[in-house]
Amino acid sequence: MRKNIVAGNWKMNLSENDAVELAKEVAEIKVENAEIIIFPPAIFIPTISKLGLKLKIGAQNFYPKDKGAFTGEISITQLKDAGVSYVLVGHSERRTILKEDNEFLKDKVNAALEHDVKVVFCCGEELTIREKGTENEFVKSQLVESVFHLNADQLKNVTIAYEPIWAIGTGLTASKEQAEAMHLFIRETIANHYNQEVANSVSILYGGSCNPSNAKELFACPNVDGGLIGGAALKSADFSSIASSF
Ligand code: 13P
Repeated sequence: MRKNIVAGNWKMNLSENDAVELAKEVAEIKVENAEIIIFPPAIFIPTISKLGLKLKIGAQNFYPKDKGAFTGEISITQLKDAGVSYVLVGHSERRTILKEDNEFLKDKVNAALEHDVKVVFCCGEELTIREKGTENEFVKSQLVESVFHLNADQLKNVTIAYEPIWAIGTGLTASKEQAEAMHLFIRETIANHYNQEVANSVSILYGGSCNPSNAKELFACPNVDGGLIGGAALKSADFSSIASSF
């Protein structure tokens, strides 16, 4: 069956010393029923990786080409060399601020999987879309356009993170009913495109103001398999409490 995962997206935060300290503290978290992944700023990945800690390290971003004249960018192979086994693709901040569209995200998904790096694919609607009641169609189109070209075997290396944009960094969390409804919809959509067995094997994480006081009820939802945590991942005590919420 599918894995529970708790992942910390540190975004563009922390000094090197603070990042190293936090990584060491996160590696001490004892949970048996969930995998823990950290996504530090790229510049700290080699240092954290060399600590040899017992945790998975992911990259928040990369460029979907192996090498070449792409000033300022980092390739998947370079990140892999540095110790990365997961990447985030489709985070709403990269979609909105860095203008990454579904077509480009499809290239990123392909580049990561070609190099055996697992993908955490983020999807989620903004508030105006939820107010119109079209969030299901919107999220479905994100999956169809960037993920559903994969075959069932490739999809095994993809985790989905549903992150409603209106809940990211706002303190507003999706209710457990809203989260479960969307996660169930995503699983049904995967089942319709692939089959139920494939759908049952995909971990679907929730992200958006997840914290120690709401993690338990969110993770108790049958189709919520963990969380992608932003702000609360920057404090080891909070992240530990969330990771222990299954
Ligand atoms: P917050 O937990 O700070 O709302 O961020 C969620 C997120 O964007 C994780 O990728």
